[in-house]
Amino acid sequence: MTDQALVELAFAMLERSYVPYSHFPVGAALLCADGTVFTGCNVENAAYGSTICAERTALVKAVSEGRRDDFVRLAVAGRSEDYCWPCGSCRQMLYEFAPDLTVLVARGDGGFVTLPLRELLPHGFGPSSLN
Ligand code: THU
Repeated sequence: MTDQALVELAFAMLERSYVPYSHFPVGAALLCADGTVFTGCNVENAAYGSTICAERTALVKAVSEGRRDDFVRLAVAGRSEDYCWPCGSCRQMLYEFAPDLTVLVARGDGGFVTLPLRELLPHGFGPSSLN
């Protein structure tokens, strides 16, 4: 799967976003080492704080299907001018399972940047931090 194809899967998920409050759809696609992709969208809630982001939707779908340790790339996409940077909670949740993940961050015109999760979340707190 090319980076471009993974980003396109993230964009396709914008149609599934449930965003009656922010009107800000976000899509995500998480690639496993064997080529399996788990997609996600943001799902908002009238109790705003109960909203789940697209990246975490994709991640919890994967983990709940038994995947844990073979995540290689995640694409996240929105329609805004700026890149759709993952929020802090998503960075933290991804770091738990995939500190060496590569993240593709797209903006509305389809352009995207590629960077390591470790750059988005330097000195992250992970499972070994509890030792
Ligand atoms: N959102 C995501 O889905 N991912 C992020 O990393 C940033 C924010 C969503 C949450 C909410 O539904 C909307 O974008 C506006 O904050």
